[in-house]
Amino acid sequence: MFPLRRNRRLRANEAIRGLVRETIITPNDFLVPLFVVEGKGIKEEIASMPNYFRYSLDLLENEVKELWKLGLKSVLLFVKVPDNLKDNKGKEALNPNGLMQRAIKTVKNACPDMLVMTDVALDPYSIYGHDGIIENGVIANDNTADFLAEMSISHAKAGANFVAPSDMMDGRILTIREALEDEGFIDTGIMSYSAKYASAFYGPFRDALDSAPVDLENIPKDKKTYQMDFANRHEALRETEMDIDEGADIVMVKPGMAYLDILREIKNEFDAPVAVYQVSGEYAMIKAAAEKGWLNHDQIMLETTTAFKRAGADIIASYFAKDIVKLIS
Ligand code: PBG
Repeated sequence: MFPLRRNRRLRANEAIRGLVRETIITPNDFLVPLFVVEGKGIKEEIASMPNYFRYSLDLLENEVKELWKLGLKSVLLFVKVPDNLKDNKGKEALNPNGLMQRAIKTVKNACPDMLVMTDVALDPYSIYGHDGIIENGVIANDNTADFLAEMSISHAKAGANFVAPSDMMDGRILTIREALEDEGFIDTGIMSYSAKYASAFYGPFRDALDSAPVDLENIPKDKKTYQMDFANRHEALRETEMDIDEGADIVMVKPGMAYLDILREIKNEFDAPVAVYQVSGEYAMIKAAAEKGWLNHDQIMLETTTAFKRAGADIIASYFAKDIVKLIS
């Protein structure tokens, strides 16, 4: 008999394809990154991220209500810090009345059940655009980890449900976990950027927050001494294992599309929930090609986000979250 099996029977029409479809994305899969700025009445488009915006707190409120109505129940907050508040040590990050702390409260007031995750990293606050304190021309690991723990406490005090350290210092998860426990924040979770690669896909994000590493003598020009070499795979497993051992509740792979192999491997290897971050450059690339008419925007959005879930992601952080949920509902 030829052929032995006719697999095309299961692809013959949309009904049968629907019945045998293995991976379905839903609003519950998505984490929405949000960019916040000082001011009033501000909704400004990020030049390299078409149709993505920075919001002042008053308009952030409307945005999160809209997300909630769409079934999007988790946000990841980032702040754009005014230049005059930046320094080497990120002092402003600990201001109880700082932009992040007010943003957390704004979201919680607008939508009390919205899960609030916060970016814990120094770069938006650093005059050098680095995720660590610079001492003698190098990124100081342990002092930075201590600082990130203080920052996490400050976010927890303001009402954050999860802190999300995106810096890649060694040992910071343990330092943060211990600090949270000591201060009584036993229910505040940690989503660790565990396998975060030194990637050229972060360009538009650094535009959004004005957080790119500066070009100055004696200052590292890139983040390669802390973010991972994109050529490496074992290292991602090692990083993830350490973060879980140190107390991470959720681990992450970042960027997304170019790292699906890493995502699958981490999902197979560990039992912690795994997040993936479809980063700014991935978003920009798709937007640009779609604008030119070279790719079908909605189909690519559906294909890429479904691919993350198929590859093992439990959580997908994506700038497409709102659009994809509108598309699938
Ligand atoms: C920095 C941080 C970056 C992103 C999230 N947190 C950029 C970087 O490491 O330089 C990138 C997210 C994106 O590109 O969408 N702590």
